[in-house]
Amino acid sequence: MRSLIDILDLTVEEIDELVNTACDMIENPSKYAECCKGKKLATLFFEPSTRTRLSFEAAMMELGGNVIGFSDAKNTSASKGETVADTSRVVSCYADIIAMRHYLEGAPMVASLNASVPVINAGDGGHAHPTQTLADLLTIHRKKGRFDNLTVGFCGDLKYGRPVHSLIHALSRYEGIKLVLISPKELALPDYIKREVIEKYNMPCIETDSLENALPELDILYMTRIQGERFDDVNEYERLKNSYVLNAEKMQCAKSDMAVLHPLPRVDEISVDVDSDPRACYFEQVFNGKNMRKALILKLLNEVQNCARGNEESFVESKPCNNPRCVSNVERGLVSKANKTDDGFRCAYCESSINI
Ligand code: CP
Repeated sequence: MRSLIDILDLTVEEIDELVNTACDMIENPSKYAECCKGKKLATLFFEPSTRTRLSFEAAMMELGGNVIGFSDAKNTSASKGETVADTSRVVSCYADIIAMRHYLEGAPMVASLNASVPVINAGDGGHAHPTQTLADLLTIHRKKGRFDNLTVGFCGDLKYGRPVHSLIHALSRYEGIKLVLISPKELALPDYIKREVIEKYNMPCIETDSLENALPELDILYMTRIQGERFDDVNEYERLKNSYVLNAEKMQCAKSDMAVLHPLPRVDEISVDVDSDPRACYFEQVFNGKNMRKALILKLLNEVQNCARGNEESFVESKPCNNPRCVSNVERGLVSKANKTDDGFRCAYCESSINI
C-alpha cells in the first residue's frame, strides 16, 4: 500500500498534482462530494491536535466518506500495552486509510510497515509533519504562484519544529530557494538536516538569532512555537519561550508582499495585532490544509500501486537508536534498523544518526 510518511515520498510532480486537485476542490467542492462514499478514515491521535485531526475528519466527510478514531490514546488499548504495529493491523480491519499522530518519532513508519491500508503521518514527535507541509505549499502557491526563487525565513524552534523539517526537505527540490534560519543556538536546526538537505543541495543559507535583521529580505516568514512539550529541561524552556515575538511594528520592516505562515497553534510568538495584516496567512493555511488533505486522501485511496516505502529491503539491522523519543526504543518486538546515507547511517524510523 502507498503511504505518506515523509514529504519526500511524494515527487515534485505529485505535489503539483495535489496542489491542482486541491485548487479544483476549493473551486468545485460539489464535484468531489461523493468521491469517497463507502470509505472510512481512521484518525489515530496519540498526541493532542486541533487542526490536523479535525481537518482530516472534515476532509473525509466532504469527500462523502466516514470517520472513526480516537483523540486520546488513554482510552485505547495502547494504555494496556498494545504496540503500534498491532494497533495498525487491527485498525486495517476497520478502515480504508489511517491518519496517525504519535509522540514517538517513527511510529507512523512502523504503522505503515504493518497496516494493510495506506497510512498518513499526521506528525511524529519532533521529526516530521508532511501534511502540514502540503498545507504550507498550497499556501505558498496561492500567495506567490511559485515554489522557486524565494527567500524563506524560519523563526523560532527549528530543533523540535517538525513542520520546519518537512518544509525544508520539500523546498530543497526547487531552484533559487534561499534559507534564513532564525533561532537561538539551543534551538538550531538539527545537524543532519543541515548536512543532508541544505549542504547536499547547496541551498544558500544564513543562520542568525535576529528576526529584526532578517525580516527585510524575506519573501516568506515561517514563524513557529517554541515546543515546550519536547524540552527535557523546563528551565531552559522558560528561558527560551519568548525568544521571538512578531508584531505590527516589526512588520513595518518587512516586504509589502511578504507572507507570514505559522503551522499553529501560536502562543505569543505572533501578536494578535498582526492578524489583520493582509500578509498574515496562517488562518488561510488552515483552510488550505483541509483541502490538501482531501486531495491526498483521494489520491491514496485511488492508487493501487505498491508502497513508495517499499525500500524496506534497503534497511540494515543496527545497534539501538540513541534518540530516546524514537519508536524503536519503546515498541516491543521492533528490530533496530538503519538506512545508509551519504553521511553514514541513520535510524530507519526517526532518522537520527546511528551506529550499526
Ligand atoms: N499545525 C498542527 O499540526 O496543528 P495541530 O497540532 O492542532 O494539529
